[in-house]
Amino acid sequence: MISEEIKRLKEEKDVIILAHYYVDGEVQENADLVGDSYFLAKKATEVEQQNILFCGVSFMGESAKILNPAKRVIMADELADCPMAHMADVKKIKEVKEQYPDAAVVCYVNSTAELKAMSDVCVTSSNAVKVVQSLPNKHIFFIPDEHLGQFVAKKLPEKEFIFNDGFCHVHTSIKKEELLQAKELHPEALVLTHPECKEEILSLSDFIGSTSEIISFATGSDAAEFIICTEMGVFFELQQKNPGKKFYSVGHRQFCPNMKRITLDKVKQALESLEPEVVLSEDLMEKARKPLEKMLELSK
Ligand code: 13P
Ligand code: SF4
Repeated sequence: MISEEIKRLKEEKDVIILAHYYVDGEVQENADLVGDSYFLAKKATEVEQQNILFCGVSFMGESAKILNPAKRVIMADELADCPMAHMADVKKIKEVKEQYPDAAVVCYVNSTAELKAMSDVCVTSSNAVKVVQSLPNKHIFFIPDEHLGQFVAKKLPEKEFIFNDGFCHVHTSIKKEELLQAKELHPEALVLTHPECKEEILSLSDFIGSTSEIISFATGSDAAEFIICTEMGVFFELQQKNPGKKFYSVGHRQFCPNMKRITLDKVKQALESLEPEVVLSEDLMEKARKPLEKMLELSK
């Protein structure tokens, strides 16, 4: 069985497997730790093993490497990348900094190491409001995701936000008309939504949070039915934790093709070869570490 082989290789090669909730259930089942981006970044700083195998997209592996430069970080699939991570422009960051010298550049972790290196602090969907609220700056340039930025801005009217036009193609493909149809079909269901969705979806939601927060909310809720507005991978943990509850999707596009690149065969291959390794220059890691560490500090 491939699971036994993975377990044997992990022990033999001193590897811990970290996985995001969006990878397939069978990959989550073979991971040591599964979580949202914040949990995974934090846990990566606490692991004892010499090698970290990441089942997720590039920015997650990069963050683990930046926070643990002495460890070897391996990706289950080298090509699994989040398109939104590239949707901000170095030139625009420089321009905004010139125009608003007091502005803090707040960078969603779904970003390249290069973008992090130009930022003051990182955030994830679960700590963005808390982190931005604790900053002394009035002006906030939020990159790369416009939708998470708008969500945070609404919660913090005392700040002035400058937005960037990045987006997640998976979450923005969730359509209002389809959500309204789903609500009509399941009138008792609560709507649980990731903040990368558009405002028209957020405004129809009963709860907005990160993947972990959505799972915790559904698990702690007395409701029996939920409409889930995020990537389908979360359904695995939702169903594991709540066998008696019902979970519905909205339309048929809630699949992140990059997260779905991760397979058990690739996990096994990565364990055998300890490749592909995440490699970043010392200089880049040093610059990108500061905003990541500041996030960990401010979200304690
Ligand atoms: P979470 O931090 O909520 O797990 O989200 C990561 C992500 O990629 C959302 O699309
Ligand atoms: Fe990126 Fe969207 Fe996939 Fe998350 S779901 S990794 S934001 S493309």
